[in-house]
Amino acid sequence: MFTGFFLSYTHAIIMESMRPIGVFDSGYGGLTVLKEIIARLPRYDYLYLGDNARTPYGTRSFETVYQYTLQCVQWLFDQGCPLIILACNTASAKALRTIQQVDLPKEDPARRVLGVIRPTSEIIGQLTRTKQVGVLATTGTVQSGSYLLEIQKFFPGIKVFQEACPMWVPLIENGEHRGPGADYFVKKHIDGLLSQSDGIDMILLACTHYPLLQNKIQEFIPPHIQLVAQGAIVAASLDDYLQRHVDLAQTCTQEGRRFFYTTDSTEGFDKQAGLFFGQAVNSAHVSLQ
Ligand code: DGL
Repeated sequence: MFTGFFLSYTHAIIMESMRPIGVFDSGYGGLTVLKEIIARLPRYDYLYLGDNARTPYGTRSFETVYQYTLQCVQWLFDQGCPLIILACNTASAKALRTIQQVDLPKEDPARRVLGVIRPTSEIIGQLTRTKQVGVLATTGTVQSGSYLLEIQKFFPGIKVFQEACPMWVPLIENGEHRGPGADYFVKKHIDGLLSQSDGIDMILLACTHYPLLQNKIQEFIPPHIQLVAQGAIVAASLDDYLQRHVDLAQTCTQEGRRFFYTTDSTEGFDKQAGLFFGQAVNSAHVSLQ
């Protein structure tokens, strides 16, 4: 008990001197984005929060996703994060706008919360020759219409076809994504997407969990179709953002430290997280219920 107290006291002291970049996801998926962000911007401190106790977000209502996301954003602010990346398409689609427009001005207008849909939509036009793009995402992201709207803003000539894949996150989170059981659901949704048009030449994995299914998806799409994950895109966009917002960049501490928090069991998190992050993870628990 004394050791526990000492550790949390030491941790509190470390956190007090830190202003890490916060990275948030409903569960593990955001780790695929954090991995790419760290590869590109290794010097910054990062604090990852996975809301594993309440995942998946993809099938939940706007109000619920907003409430959960706001709670997680507030917690990350309390830990000193000057900048937070919602590394979750569902949270970016359903909560980001309200947080940016309503909550941030009240909380602290100097802090920033960014999502993953805009940076991805900004460059998508460079990745298609036929100007027909397929989007695979959670039900929540598809129903929000966020990709249709955002891509339209940057590339009005591009046609977007969407397919919701509600079984993919549970398959991944339960470690079934590599087995033959995944084939049925992967094929079902690839067929559902490609049956909407013959002209699609690029498919976006618009859920941060889906890179784990990338090899399996590749088996079911014709070779001329390019499959794109968004981690590297988000990392490049963050790099550019920090270069354009020097004051904010200087506020973030840069000692290469990484902290991982989950709202569920740390044992389960540490076991699974390595698959998404590419290296071992040692997490701590936070209760946000
Ligand atoms: N990883 C999240 C995304 O990018 C969704 C996972 C979930 O449904 O909770 O949309």
